[in-house]
Amino acid sequence: MKNLSRVPRFSYESKNLAEISADVLILPLFDNEKLPKELTDFDKKINNAVKNILDAKDFSGKKNSVLLFHSSGKAKRILLIGLGENKKISMETIRASISNGISALKNISAAKAAIRLSGLDSFASEDLGQAVVETVLLSLYEFTQYKKTDEKKKSYLKEICLLADKKDLSEIKKGGETGEKIARAVILARDLANEPANVVTPATLAEEAVKMAKLNGIKHKILEIKDMKRLGMGALLGVAKGSEEPAKFIILEYKPKLKVKSEELKVQTIVLVGKGITFDSGGISIKPSQSMDEMKYDMAGGATVIGAMQAAAQLILPINLIGLIPSTENLPSGTAQRPGDIVRAMNGKTIEVLNTDAEGRMILADALVYAKKYNPDAVIDFATLTGAIVVAIGEHASGLFSNNENLEKNLKKAGEATGERVWPMPLYEEYFEQIKGDLADIRNIGGKEGGPSTAAKFLEQFTDFPWAHLDIAGTAWTTKPKPYRPKGATGVGVRLIIETLINWE
Ligand code: BES
Ligand code: MN
Ligand code: ZN
Repeated sequence: MKNLSRVPRFSYESKNLAEISADVLILPLFDNEKLPKELTDFDKKINNAVKNILDAKDFSGKKNSVLLFHSSGKAKRILLIGLGENKKISMETIRASISNGISALKNISAAKAAIRLSGLDSFASEDLGQAVVETVLLSLYEFTQYKKTDEKKKSYLKEICLLADKKDLSEIKKGGETGEKIARAVILARDLANEPANVVTPATLAEEAVKMAKLNGIKHKILEIKDMKRLGMGALLGVAKGSEEPAKFIILEYKPKLKVKSEELKVQTIVLVGKGITFDSGGISIKPSQSMDEMKYDMAGGATVIGAMQAAAQLILPINLIGLIPSTENLPSGTAQRPGDIVRAMNGKTIEVLNTDAEGRMILADALVYAKKYNPDAVIDFATLTGAIVVAIGEHASGLFSNNENLEKNLKKAGEATGERVWPMPLYEEYFEQIKGDLADIRNIGGKEGGPSTAAKFLEQFTDFPWAHLDIAGTAWTTKPKPYRPKGATGVGVRLIIETLINWE
C-alpha cells in the first residue's frame, strides 16, 4: 500500500496583515458584523476593497459563503470566508468555513495561504489551532492513487500560515502541532478503508499495522490461525473458514515512557477493539450485489484503531493503550460456515450462526474476551456493525451503546467537541430475549426489531468490564462530500477517541 498524499507545512506568525506576503490571505468574517479595527486599517491600504464588497452586498459573511479576489497588497489574493452569525458560532462552523475556503483554493495556483485567526475569542487558542490544522489537512485529503496523474485534482498549497495575536501564538502553535499528528492518523485510517479489498486483505492490514507500530515504538504481535485455534477463538474462526486469505488477529500495545512507574501513577489501561472485515459479502447468507463494493470498508473500525494508536503514540498520551483488530474476509465457499452451524467463542459461550452476514459480532466476541487479559479500565469497540443503525440515525452520528455512564459521558462530550457525534442507544435487558439461543447459548441475529441494539446486546455477552460500542456503519463512509470529509472513508473515530483520551475524567 502506497501513501501518496502530499501535505503542506504549517507556520505560525503574528504580523500586521499588510506585512503578510502570501499568495492568498484568508479572512474569516461573521455575518453582518462591523469589521474589526485591524481589518479596516488593513482594508484602507488595499483601497477599501473589503468595504466595497460588503457595501455592494457581494458578500456578507453568511455561513458557507466564500469570495476570492485579487488585491494590490502584499498578499496577492484575498479569500473572504463566511462564519455565519457570531452568536451561533461553534468549532464545527469554523471547521466547515475553513474547509470551504481550502476547497476554493484547490485548483488555484496559490502555494502559500495565510489564515487570520484573531477575533475568534470564544475558543481557547490551543483548540482553535488544532481545529484549523486538522481541517486544512483533512480538507485536502483525496484518494487518487489509482488515477493517472493528469486526472488528479491539483492542490498547489505548500505552506499554510496561521496568523494570530502575539499573546495567543504559542498556544495556537501547540494546538496546531497536535492537530497535525491527529490529522495524519485520520488520513492513515481513511487510506486503509479506501483501499480496495484485493489490496487490503487481513495480511496487508496486519502488515500496515506492524509498519505503523515499528515507526512509532509500539509493541505489536499478529496471531495466526493456529494461535486462534489454541486460544479457542471459535467465533472468529467460523467466519474465517470461508476465505482463502488467512485471518489475522492484530495486537498493538502502546505504553508511555514515563519517568515514574506506571503503577505508581495509576495509569489507566484502555483497550480499543476494531472490526477488521476486509470484505463482507455476507458469506453463505450472501448480500444483494447492489453496493456490495462498499463492503470493503467493513474494516473501517480496525483502520480507526490503527490510526488512533499512531496518534496516541505520537502525542505521548499518558495512558496504556491496547489495540485489538480481529481481521478476516467474510466469503461464501465450499469451506464457509453454514447457517445453523454452532460455534464456541473463547469464553466458552456457544453461538448459533443463523445468518452468516451477522459476522462482525462474531469476530468482535472473541476480541472482547481477549481484551479481558489486560484487566482494562475501559474497552471501546468501533464497528461497521449494522445497516439498521444507518436507517435509525443516518450519517450524522455514530450509535453509542455502553454499560458505563462515565464512559458514555466522556464519549458524548468528545463527540460534541470534535463534531464526530455519538448518540446513545438502548441496551435494555429485554433485547436479550431476542438473541437467546434455541440450541446454543445465544444466536447471532435477533430479528428485525431493534437491530442495532440486539447486535450490541450480543457483544455485551462477552464483556465484564466498563465497555462502549460505537456502531460506525453510517459515519465511516460518505457517498456525498461533506466539509473536510470527501467522498469515501471518513476515518471517523480517530479524532473522537483521541479527544476522549486527552480529556479522560
Ligand atoms: N457490515 C455489515 C453492516 C453494514 C451495512 C455496514 C451497511 C455498513 C453499511 C454487517 O456485517 C451486516 O451485514 N449486518 C447485517 C446484520 C443482519 C444480518 C442481522 C445487516 O445490517 O444487515
Ligand atoms: Mn455482514
Ligand atoms: Zn460486516
